Amino acid sequence: MNLEKTFIEIFKNAPEIKARAPGRVNLIGEHTDYNDGFVMPIAIHHEIVILACPRRDRLVRLHSVGFGQSSSFSLDKPIEKDPVHPWSNYERGVFSEYLKRGIVPGGADMLIYGNVPVGAGLSSSAAVEMATSQAVKGLNGLDLSGIDMIKLSQDAENKFVGMNCGIMDQFISCMGEKGKALFLDCRSLEYELIPFPSDTYTVVIMNTRVKRELTGTEYNERRGQCEEGVRLLGRKVRGIQALRDVEINDFNMNKAVLPEKVRMRCEHVIKENARVKAFVGALKDRDSERMGLLLTDSHKSLRDLYEVSCRELDILVDIAMAVKGVVGARMTGAGFGGCAIAVVEKGREKDLEEAVLKIYPEQTGIIPEIYISEPAQGAGIEKLK
Ligand code: GLA
Repeated sequence: MNLEKTFIEIFKNAPEIKARAPGRVNLIGEHTDYNDGFVMPIAIHHEIVILACPRRDRLVRLHSVGFGQSSSFSLDKPIEKDPVHPWSNYERGVFSEYLKRGIVPGGADMLIYGNVPVGAGLSSSAAVEMATSQAVKGLNGLDLSGIDMIKLSQDAENKFVGMNCGIMDQFISCMGEKGKALFLDCRSLEYELIPFPSDTYTVVIMNTRVKRELTGTEYNERRGQCEEGVRLLGRKVRGIQALRDVEINDFNMNKAVLPEKVRMRCEHVIKENARVKAFVGALKDRDSERMGLLLTDSHKSLRDLYEVSCRELDILVDIAMAVKGVVGARMTGAGFGGCAIAVVEKGREKDLEEAVLKIYPEQTGIIPEIYISEPAQGAGIEKLK
């Protein structure tokens, strides 16, 4: 599709900049980001692209190619949600967060195009937020750091859209690098870009094509249970601000004070943080056996302790684990549908693809989608003229 031509047809003007931001999959470290913990995502080739040009007035006009719809708002009034075009709330949220920070951008025309499947757990919303943040930065010549853009995008989602997500998705969408996995400390925001050994392993993404309907409410409930765990354990162990601070021995000695579900959630988070750190070493050593165990343990823990998997995700993981050359597999993202990933020995990905395409429809009646992705580059802006 010729996006520039489409832009001119719709806005009767030529675009001046192109911003892009990728979706992501998380290799390991699930539901740890909002517990001040550790994660290890990669950016993927699926991305959101925004073409934009400035306007002389204070109007923002958006057009989504995917939805075939337009939505516009004025920067002179408080920005509100658009109930008829909810897709535009992510862009609206970003503009609103700029204004809240005392940065007053000029009006703009924006064409939004993307191939990140919506509702598949590949962070299409973070990619839209990040691409919008980048486009506004580019159009207005703003001097903002990556961290500024990440926090602004996360605030758009938390405060404007109303989804209380952690920082992982916006962070990787901005900071991801081609060929690298990102090991992030979600408290200090220190990170390490670790070369992903693409000559040895491939990441295969398997989409259940089950939409994550329950995510919002269940997600916030899990967050609440983790906070409850911190509150109760904090009465017994000193200096705990988040589950990140709880040592496994302290947890084991004091877990009797926790209601059952809270205990299960805490156990997942505490052990998952340890798994991420162990995975860093295993990946660097190309230790397939260790990587596999960590991935599989992560999935079991999300299924049995955090209770965010679903039948379709478990089926995908089981299918993958029976294929020769699969190092490990797990659900990725918030859960309740969406995608599972498998780390596969290079050259074996076709065997996995064949197995999934044959067995998954037999067991679920759903045709899955499979994407093979090497770690991709994070967000960027390009001048078009
Ligand atoms: C969603 C959220 C992230 C993270 C994951 C679970 O993707 O947006 O912040 O919490 O779920 O790991």
